[in-house]
Amino acid sequence: MLREVLLSVSRSEKLKQVATDAAPARAMVDRFVAGERTEDAVRATAELAASGRLVTIDHLGEDTLELAQATSTRDAYLALLDALGAAGLTDRAEVSVKLSAVGQALPGDGEKIARDNALAICERAATYGTTVTLDMEDHTTTESTLGILRELRLDFPGTGGVLQAYLRRTEADCRDLATHGSRIRLCKGAYREPESVAFTDRGEVDRAYVRCMKILMQGDGYPMLATHDPRLVEIGGALAVRNDRQPGSYEYQMLYGVRPDEQARLTAQGERMRVYVPYGDEWYGYLVRRLAEKPTNLTLLARALVSKG
Ligand code: FDA
Repeated sequence: MLREVLLSVSRSEKLKQVATDAAPARAMVDRFVAGERTEDAVRATAELAASGRLVTIDHLGEDTLELAQATSTRDAYLALLDALGAAGLTDRAEVSVKLSAVGQALPGDGEKIARDNALAICERAATYGTTVTLDMEDHTTTESTLGILRELRLDFPGTGGVLQAYLRRTEADCRDLATHGSRIRLCKGAYREPESVAFTDRGEVDRAYVRCMKILMQGDGYPMLATHDPRLVEIGGALAVRNDRQPGSYEYQMLYGVRPDEQARLTAQGERMRVYVPYGDEWYGYLVRRLAEKPTNLTLLARALVSKG
């Protein structure tokens, strides 16, 4: 219920302003977001790389409705890749891109604009020997995003995609995409979706995640298991053994600031662990989705606000 309410306000401009003005909210932002500038993302990446972790970096922003904004987001990614290259970090870090941030939601030829912008980012990533993963957003964009993924892979086969276990269609998508070299991140799914397209019961979502993980781990692709759920991490490990997958033929992924001890534990076991590092000033939608995942985060925020009077 709380999740529903939170996700319904994730696009509220008014609440965004309140959160921006409230100093205690900053502490919450700082836990989940690396900072606002390119240098902040590079610094966080260097720290994580030094601890043996891999990184995927997200320049925050989504639902862009202006062409200039889409272009400036693309340019921010190009600058980020140059900065990672200069810092010698492109063997440890790739980037994650939301197509709605680079134009997918623009009226008219938004889809083409998003594809061209994503292509430019893939080209720049390739010059540094690294890759791009396309984040997955709400279900109205799934078909378009998978179409653009297919197109990008013609020139850049290492481009990663994301599948959300809560969508009823996803088991079939896993079968289609568990092909040689195909990098697929599997997550539970973070948006508010109708029962008609998605499982809404947590147990059902977890069971769907296991079914999808089995398909990906049995397949020929490169599964990226994005979850903090201890049971699912354990099942992922068991599936790796059962399918004779060596560390390096799949990876775990977790979000910046979430279960860092578990990230360190898996890294110490020799597993590939990639941390999703968001940065930039458009942190509001991202933060609300993180709060919706863990109501105690919201309690911490409420306490901080009260203690500041
Ligand atoms: P679940 O939410 O059940 O959490 C399991 C446990 O993990 C919790 O009990 C808690 O201990 C801990 N935990 C989880 N979230 C926490 C938080 N915010 N704060 C503190 N503790 C927390 N979604 C999407 O729709 N499209 C996408 O492209 C992506 N990309 C993506 C990349 C990566 C690397 C990750 C890890 C996740 C995503 N997601 C995503 C988000 C994903 O869909 C999902 O909403 C979250 O990962 C939470 O689901 P869990 O699998 O962690 O389980």
